[in-house]
Amino acid sequence: MTIETERLILRPFREGDGSDVFEYLHEPEVNCFACMKLDSPDDAEKEVRERSGETEYYFAIVLKASGKVIGEIDAYPEAGEPHADDDAPKDTFSPCWMLNREYHGRGYAFEAAHAFFDYLFREKGARRIYAYVEDHNAASRRLCEKLGMRLEGVFREFVSFVDDAGGDPVYENTCQYAILKKEWLACDGVSEQIRRITRFERIFDRIKLALSEFDAAADRLEKLKPDVELLSAYYSGDDWKRDFADDEAGRLPNDLKRGVLSEDGIYDLLEEYGELTGK
Ligand SMILES: CC(C)(COP(=O)(O)OP(=O)(O)OC[C@H]1O[C@@H](n2cnc3c(N)ncnc32)[C@H](O)[C@@H]1OP(=O)(O)O)[C@@H](O)C(=O)NCCC(=O)NCCS
Repeated sequence: MTIETERLILRPFREGDGSDVFEYLHEPEVNCFACMKLDSPDDAEKEVRERSGETEYYFAIVLKASGKVIGEIDAYPEAGEPHADDDAPKDTFSPCWMLNREYHGRGYAFEAAHAFFDYLFREKGARRIYAYVEDHNAASRRLCEKLGMRLEGVFREFVSFVDDAGGDPVYENTCQYAILKKEWLACDGVSEQIRRITRFERIFDRIKLALSEFDAAADRLEKLKPDVELLSAYYSGDDWKRDFADDEAGRLPNDLKRGVLSEDGIYDLLEEYGELTGK
């Protein structure tokens, strides 16, 4: 199974993903994933081989543009109530999400999680999706809120994943967030609108950044005017003719950088400067 979004592909793990996975799992960022820590790229490769059989509920988050695996998301069907009978419907899911820290804060987690929720609700029979998030994990809590999940409660000192230096368990306060299928479908029109606005906001920001870089470059070019005049005078004077002739005759050291003597090098540069600055 593959899920496609604007910038991402969610697909099962496969051989060769190990080095990307090692990047974010050699040092898991949060205690709840401490047990997933991988010690070497070889271990990571072994891990992705094992995961590669999981094709419905465990996905690598892959950048469309480069094919790089930047994180993962998964959730498996479970009964809604912890003490349910074996034949109780498995219509409840609790996702885990994790991104390589180099890719945080760019909306990738929301884009992946939104598509994954949609898939679970519409194609995999999900009735309720819930998440346990430690109270200090602001990024994950915000992600839940952005996905429309409600904060259902906070369990104080609920669970421990690691021990402190003295060997005592470190207990975490855990928030429970959840969303029902009917809530997801009801807010889908709104979330579609949010997705659209978020998408155009990103395009707007990219253009704005390029324009400000362009302005800054124009300022730098303007300040280089005296250098341009010097270069132009060198190009039209006797020194350049002598340097060019010596180069042609092989009298200059081989390792000397000599772009200024290349065929039309200065000419093209001055032309381009003139076109961009109108001078
Ligand atoms: C949780 C995680 C996947 C979120 O990734 P992300 O790249 O920050 O997510 P997004 O860019 O999609 O951002 C989602 C929202 O969270 C906000 N956010 C991100 N980091 C935040 C932070 N440190 N504090 C507050 N808000 C934050 C973003 O601004 C965005 O909200 P906005 O659109 O209103 O601005 C990422 O931080 C991660 O991998 N953490 C380590 C693993 C983890 O904690 N997993 C969950 C365990 S419960």
